[in-house]
Amino acid sequence: VDQPKIVTLFEAALPASSSDSALSPRLSAFYGGSLSFPQPHPGRPVIIGNFVQTLDGVISLKAPGRSGGGEISGFNLEDRFIMALLRAHADAVMVASRTLHEDSGHVRIPAFIYPALEADFLTLRHRLGKDTPHPLNVVVTGSGRLNLEEKTFSTAGLRTLVLTTHTGAQQLQHAYGARLPGLTTVRVLPGVTEVDPADIARTLWRDYGVQLLLHEGGATFFGTFLKQRLIDELFLTVAPQIVGPGSRRERPAFSGALNGSPSPDESIWGILLSIKMPQEGSHLYLRYRLPVSEMARSVDDKPLRG
Ligand SMILES: NC(=O)c1ccc[n+]([C@@H]2O[C@H](COP(=O)([O-])OP(=O)(O)OC[C@H]3O[C@@H](n4cnc5c(N)ncnc54)[C@H](OP(=O)(O)O)[C@@H]3O)[C@@H](O)[C@H]2O)c1
Repeated sequence: VDQPKIVTLFEAALPASSSDSALSPRLSAFYGGSLSFPQPHPGRPVIIGNFVQTLDGVISLKAPGRSGGGEISGFNLEDRFIMALLRAHADAVMVASRTLHEDSGHVRIPAFIYPALEADFLTLRHRLGKDTPHPLNVVVTGSGRLNLEEKTFSTAGLRTLVLTTHTGAQQLQHAYGARLPGLTTVRVLPGVTEVDPADIARTLWRDYGVQLLLHEGGATFFGTFLKQRLIDELFLTVAPQIVGPGSRRERPAFSGALNGSPSPDESIWGILLSIKMPQEGSHLYLRYRLPVSEMARSVDDKPLRG
């Protein structure tokens, strides 16, 4: 069986308040070092994003059956390992509706993306004190037009949560009726067509005990979190391919909904935390800290609207 081999080229010193690395010697050898995270803010989880992009910044080909991250990374072994490792640390993994549907069949648990190390990831979660084998899978939709036949909703031992608007909940109730409670938990948040990222963060923290939230996109949804400066860290794999923007410029960058704003003066500057690469190959695995706003830090002070 192929094993991941990652080399660390640069690593910044993390703040003394960071968690201790819980990696076993074996996982640490695969990752090329230790892995720890900042302490959660009062009132909201630490939120980390994970994307793979092409050299020219594309995260999805937007071609039927070929829109997922695998096509972007070339199904890179080390990228899959890092995805699984982040999922194993997370209390919850979150995606928006289009990512769920366009990458159909994908289940956001460590063992799905890296089955060969399933036992190692389970041990890691145990060491981290997590009381579930898998991170809670959160799906966010405004409209409620979700296909609950997706494998995510029938994976054994996987808890799922749909965060939506009042209209979205009605839509789901209409589509699934009495079957709905057996398929997933639906939670209504304020908002007419969309829910507020700050409300999502606060609710997951307060009601679902989420301290580390892994945001897996997609572009539109991640952009709404960037806009509110709610992303603490970005794990970004750069795959050595160039694909172009598509004939209708349909292929997004991970900053999606950041379109129109910010002005150049408001752009978001990251701080490089690490640079890694595979022992063989040309991918880059980058980790950045991003600035979070005062508003983002004090989500807990803001009452939920509605
Ligand atoms: N390369 C990578 O690392 C990577 C990672 C993730 C995704 N992807 C790819 O990116 C593509 C998806 O990105 P995308 O930008 O097209 O779509 P997306 O962000 O996954 O989903 C957008 C949809 O989610 C719902 N939504 C978004 N923000 C919301 C909010 N604040 N509140 C409530 N609902 C909200 C809306 O639809 P409704 O209201 O109708 O639900 C919206 O149309 C897929 O092809 C996926 O495979 C790639």
